[in-house]
Amino acid sequence: MNALKILFVSPEVDPFVKVGGLADMAGSLPKGLAALGHDVRVVCPYYGLARERPGWTALEETLGVDVGPRALWARTWRTTLPGSRVPVYLIEHDAFFARGGVYDGPWGPHGDNDLRFAFLCRAALALCQQLRWIPDVAHGHDWTTGLLPVLLNTTLRATELGRVASVFTIHNLEHQGYANPRVLDFARIPRSEFRPDSVESFGSVNMMKAGLYHSTKLTTVSPTYAREIRTPEGGWGLDPVLRFRGGDLIGILNGIDTTVWNPATDRLLAARYDEGDLRGKALCKAALREETGLAADADAPVFGVVSRLASQKGLDLLAAALPRVMEEMRVQFVILGTGDAGLQDAFSGLAARHRGRLAARIGYSNELSHRIQAGSDFFVMPSRAEPCGLTQMYAMNYGTPPIVRATGGLADTVEQYAEGKGLGTGFLFGEASARALYYTIGWACSTFYDRPADLAALRANGMRKDFSWNRSAERYEEVYRWAVEARRRA
Ligand code: ADP
Ligand code: GLC
Repeated sequence: MNALKILFVSPEVDPFVKVGGLADMAGSLPKGLAALGHDVRVVCPYYGLARERPGWTALEETLGVDVGPRALWARTWRTTLPGSRVPVYLIEHDAFFARGGVYDGPWGPHGDNDLRFAFLCRAALALCQQLRWIPDVAHGHDWTTGLLPVLLNTTLRATELGRVASVFTIHNLEHQGYANPRVLDFARIPRSEFRPDSVESFGSVNMMKAGLYHSTKLTTVSPTYAREIRTPEGGWGLDPVLRFRGGDLIGILNGIDTTVWNPATDRLLAARYDEGDLRGKALCKAALREETGLAADADAPVFGVVSRLASQKGLDLLAAALPRVMEEMRVQFVILGTGDAGLQDAFSGLAARHRGRLAARIGYSNELSHRIQAGSDFFVMPSRAEPCGLTQMYAMNYGTPPIVRATGGLADTVEQYAEGKGLGTGFLFGEASARALYYTIGWACSTFYDRPADLAALRANGMRKDFSWNRSAERYEEVYRWAVEARRRA
């Protein structure tokens, strides 16, 4: 089979810039595709202010980007994804990108997010023209890249880019990118697209909807989420569009980067371990307790949380369940997260009340996130909705059975524990309530104290599972070929 040329455009790419799991996905799937022999190139904004980095080179030619009344200019930095030869092009244009947060500033979302990401889409395509590298497929992710397929279908249809097929991946339908129609003029997309069966929604441009209408094929990050978003309960108002395009939409589970998330090689840990020898995991638990100020209570299980503190993640259920859990059970908790101010306060308050038993680290720390995965006995993720979720897969690979609500990718990746049978990889519950979470934490706790053989089996089952990109990269390859074929016939 011939190799494909794949343009991969994302607002976040690990390790260059990361807000959530999209960065992990965008930093790892391209490596999986390259391993299959494809020519994949990643484009992402350059948000930093520091210029040169080791191994980065600036392209000699300035990039002219056809937006607004006159073209704007950008500089392009080229580097590679670590551990691979996959090129990454970082687009530097300070007026749009050189600022603190990727999406948000201190007062909420940046007011010009529509223009910033329209610029990214237009720049990615201009770069292809400049490099004289015309991809077979342009693959965008979430609302920030929603205008990419619109440009291919309209403004650029008559150019050499007009035959490029598009694939659009939904990582989270909750954020849709509502914008003033001025963004169309800025991107030089005809105003005739401002209609409900294209980019318009309630008098605004909906950039997510634009991607859903215009892309040749659609994917989302788990089969269960692919079903959920077709229903009014899970569709965030776009379920009619997703039903309309249902035949072009499939769910493909994310993989994880096992060169980064592997307890046998992870240099961020106090000790390394694998399925055959868990002594290192015990050392990681002791080190985690010391680092976070938890008492060295040899018997108690440690429950870990690493999460954005957003309503999607269901951590209000945990905050509500914890007072009773802490009172009735001999357990310890370590919580790492940042986001919603109310939740930050709730967890800090609980930590103050349960010193030595409950530690809350409000903030972002990649290092601590690895150490929590390794040093905990259980990983708690009670999401209300979870398109895929990566942290539960990291947890299972680190021998830390997750406690999750059965939704989206959590339902697809975690297998329910069957008591006394040594089956399963974690604990699932259905009802989004503090009560259901409380009982499930209790179930995990009693497994820790009363059924150590079962717990050992759960750990081993999770560690044996293959969550790497091997399978899913092949599924994306199929979708790309399917899209190329459909574009050719269009
Ligand atoms: P989402 O993308 O919805 O946040 P995922 O589970 O797909 O959820 O991915 C979250 C990613 O962000 C994981 O790599 C996780 O380790 C990381 N992460 C989330 N919060 C923090 C934090 N406070 N500190 C460090 N890493 C975090
Ligand atoms: C989104 C989703 C998360 C998913 C990630 C990567 O941030 O919330 O469930 O794992 O994208 O696809």
